[in-house]
Amino acid sequence: MRVLVLSGPNLDRLGRREPEIYGRTTLAEIHRELEDLASARGAAVECRQSNHEGSLIDWIGEASDHGFQAILINPGALTHTSYALHDAIKGSSLPTVELHLSNPDAREAFRRHSCVAPACLGRIAGFGAASYRVALDAVLDHLRTRA
Ligand code: DQA
Repeated sequence: MRVLVLSGPNLDRLGRREPEIYGRTTLAEIHRELEDLASARGAAVECRQSNHEGSLIDWIGEASDHGFQAILINPGALTHTSYALHDAIKGSSLPTVELHLSNPDAREAFRRHSCVAPACLGRIAGFGAASYRVALDAVLDHLRTRA
């Protein structure tokens, strides 16, 4: 089982960006943890980050052609603005989990709307860096029960 893990704008700054909200764990540390967790569960992850909406859309569009069975995505602020990401996820027909370190519903009003949520299998939010781990566990369980 191969899972594509995507992080959007400004998440390359994790560890230094507003640590009181997003914590001190870097994205590289999160990626290493996911690789370990995936291999312990007999799966594999490929983790990518981009500050560019178009790169995320390209990666989602190609995901099934490249042999991925599921996607985890933290779209950053694109969550709240990008119908193009919604359409890319919908078009991929891969089970996709929306994830966030913080809980957007408990923050500013503009973060309460997610453009991508209707295209996703589910959402994990509010557990800091652990949101990535929880999302990976959940999607691997989903793939196993479906297989
Ligand atoms: C975020 C939440 C978004 O509202 C914000 O724009 C981000 C990070 C999170 O992981 O908590 O960049 O996706």
